[in-house]
Amino acid sequence: MPDTATAAPAQTPTVIRREDYTAPDYAIDSLALAFDLEPGATRVKSRLAVAPAHEQGSAADVRPLKLDGEALKLVSIALDGQPLAEGRDYRVDDSGLTVTAPPQGSFTLEIETEIDPKGNSELSGLYLSNGIFCTQCEAEGFRRITYFPDRPDVLTRYHVTIRGPKDSCPVLLSNGNLAETGELSDGRHYAVWDDPFPKPSYLFALVAGDLACHEEGFTTHSGREVALRIYVEHGKESRTGWAMDSLKRAMRWDETRFGLEYDLDLFNIVAVSDFNMGAMENKSLNVFNDKYILADPDTATDGDYAGIESVVAHEYFHNWTGNRVTCRDWFQLSLKEGLTVFRDQEFSSDVRSRPVERIQTVRALRARQFPEDAGPLAHPVRPDSYIEINNFYTPTVYEKGAEVIRMLHSLLGEDGFQKGMRLYIERHDGQAATCDDFVAAMADANDVDLEQFKRWYSQAGTPEVEVTGAYDGDSGTYEMTVRQTCPPTPGQPEKQPLQIPFAVGLLDAQGQDIPLALEGEDSGATSATKVLELRESEQRFRFPGVPEPRALSYNRGFSAPVNLKSEQSAEELAFLMAQDSDPFARWEAGQRYALRLLLQAVETLQAGGVPEFDTAFIDAFREILRDPQLDKAFAAEALTLPGESYIGEQMQPLDVDAIHRAREALRRRLAETLTDDLQEVYTVNTVTEAYSPEGEQAAQRALRNTALSYLSALAPEEGAALERLVDHYHAADNMTDRMAPLRLLADIGGEAAEATLQDFHDRYRDNDLVMDKWLALQAVSARPDTLERVKALEEHPVFSLSRPNKVRALIGTFVQANPLRYHAADGSGYRFHADRVLTLDGINSQIAARLLTPLGRWARMGEERQRLMKAELERILSAPDLSRDVYEIASKSLEG
Ligand code: TRP
Ligand code: ZN
Repeated sequence: MPDTATAAPAQTPTVIRREDYTAPDYAIDSLALAFDLEPGATRVKSRLAVAPAHEQGSAADVRPLKLDGEALKLVSIALDGQPLAEGRDYRVDDSGLTVTAPPQGSFTLEIETEIDPKGNSELSGLYLSNGIFCTQCEAEGFRRITYFPDRPDVLTRYHVTIRGPKDSCPVLLSNGNLAETGELSDGRHYAVWDDPFPKPSYLFALVAGDLACHEEGFTTHSGREVALRIYVEHGKESRTGWAMDSLKRAMRWDETRFGLEYDLDLFNIVAVSDFNMGAMENKSLNVFNDKYILADPDTATDGDYAGIESVVAHEYFHNWTGNRVTCRDWFQLSLKEGLTVFRDQEFSSDVRSRPVERIQTVRALRARQFPEDAGPLAHPVRPDSYIEINNFYTPTVYEKGAEVIRMLHSLLGEDGFQKGMRLYIERHDGQAATCDDFVAAMADANDVDLEQFKRWYSQAGTPEVEVTGAYDGDSGTYEMTVRQTCPPTPGQPEKQPLQIPFAVGLLDAQGQDIPLALEGEDSGATSATKVLELRESEQRFRFPGVPEPRALSYNRGFSAPVNLKSEQSAEELAFLMAQDSDPFARWEAGQRYALRLLLQAVETLQAGGVPEFDTAFIDAFREILRDPQLDKAFAAEALTLPGESYIGEQMQPLDVDAIHRAREALRRRLAETLTDDLQEVYTVNTVTEAYSPEGEQAAQRALRNTALSYLSALAPEEGAALERLVDHYHAADNMTDRMAPLRLLADIGGEAAEATLQDFHDRYRDNDLVMDKWLALQAVSARPDTLERVKALEEHPVFSLSRPNKVRALIGTFVQANPLRYHAADGSGYRFHADRVLTLDGINSQIAARLLTPLGRWARMGEERQRLMKAELERILSAPDLSRDVYEIASKSLEG
């Protein structure tokens, strides 16, 4: 019997490397597809016009034609009308089909395959979501539909015929323009779609089913009339208004801010209930997870509305950044994702509060991307290698990628950035481009050198920036010394200095910004915020002619995605918290101050003591509560303490119990000291107008629910606090106000909590998306029996391991958002986690691999938990028939 812990998998999967990229051997000039839809056996006929993409001087230059294919049944294959023979003319294996000796020059290939949408639980390729045929082809799903060069640098024109039953599939959709429809015998009908824009296979889409449609129109800047259609399951059409509205605003915004206009007469969105990710930007036929389309006040929170607005915009923005200009290979994924996330963040900032958007973005970056960059799965924004590309749709590629674009924007300014965008699109429209192409367009349009900047694409890890300052009273000069380092990451032991735009300000004793110019700059360059350009591991900056500053404000607006190491006194932080003119830096000072107190409290608790908290911090909180000028959404952010996971990132080994107790102690201390102010804020911010998901009233709800949360920390088991929560819940006329107290009640537990959870369940049992919330808020509960409860909920009729939203809501929330219970000392959380990953791997490997990542953070834990976590990773790795997806995450996680 071999030692299972060290047994290698039967076959170690191939590593794909960026440096191995070669251009395709063949171009596909056009592609005709015909689908005969049947749930268990769909026939797909394809006709490819193939042309060699390189010189063929003689027959000796002819290369084999390799087509990708996976989980396909080959029915027939013919070349220029002649059937091909297996063995003699072509061969087939697990990964595709090779025509071994094609003729010289161009030819036509006809292939027929059979696929099984009903049995497709991976939700990649053509599958059924609640009876609706739909596709997901990014990144490599098209090869599960037919044999094809399934790579983003093969662009072709698609001509698609869909045949299906009229009763169950009255709606037949694909990309581009509807060319023809008609009747067939046996109760079937057909539709023909023609997409005039050449596209890679990952942007192909097909949807067929019985769907309701919400249609409106949009007139583009140059006068094109575009029909906008949102398709959903029947009964859900009343919840599509906000998505439609968001789409129109996104279309207008892209015209005004980026000068980019929509390019077809039709734009379709389909929302389905089972989907691996949030949404997909298929050309003119975006497919969405229901979660990012459906909303009404009774079932969606303000946060859900914001999420819909940004995802609808994101997918729409891909039409130019992703579709018109696509990626050469999957290593370039951030070319479209980082840029498109930047664009959707800018959209949200322009239509909502810019500071609040920035705060929320940074909170998410720290919760998801910084940990990734500090762990075993750290990789550059443009990775160098992968085993399974689906594992690289990561916070690093998306969110850090967006930060990289934002830094270019800071360095070049809005005008310079837009000049670069215009050149990028002018050069690459209709092409598959690289990250280097993008940076080159930015550099050329602005006549600047961005060679060093490119390291942001190749170097993983979150840089650390340390600032020290000294004031020379004699010369009136402030000198800042700035050092940058970057911790090693897997495969990158040595790091090089980056080009970092680092925004700083100096405040005088009255809290006013001191106008700054660097030594040698003329007075015209004076400004309140100075963006220092860091390029070396250590640099000095001198600001002459300034009074002695009272406080320093660093990395204003979070101008770079770095960790700040500088020591600032508690007084300085309290001062910045109250005075900084940069709202982000003001929020950040509060977070840093809170973090410091919380980490001290953790140490006190570990030593068996009772934590105490600075009154200066509590006073600063009081000021925020009492400041009538302050934007209420900002105040809500400023009053929210750093989360347990983020606190945990700052300590080693991580002590989840002490962190939870420390944070609760500070919350209670704030609530006890500031009860009257919190009561006042709670009362004053009651919204009386009819519900709207944004603006002042959403800000009021956010602030009021923050106050509610603190007030519930006051001896929660006592009647008054409990009663307030239950009353708040029953008085609510919208989901935001129902969820806030319910979330708190789920933490407190007891009869009132159970009764309210039951009420919520009974009220929304038929609404899938709301039931996801119900599952999630029980999975995140701090109650000691949460794991037992999660296991019990797996038996609830609404739960299913084959539905990604359910898995994410229940299991995903438990393993990712509940560190306190996930890291139970007996290892029960880890065992449960590994069991579910293994079961899921046989159903949906993409979802299984994504779920797995928390196990990889073992190095942060104490010895015993490390041992338990690694044992689970080893158990996963020794399981038979592991997918490439799970194999890659588990093996890299174990290497640490
Ligand atoms: N391109 C999509 C987006 O960011 C992401 C996506 C949707 C995706 N579905 C997927 C990625 C499935 C991998 C697999 O908007
Ligand atoms: Zn995207």
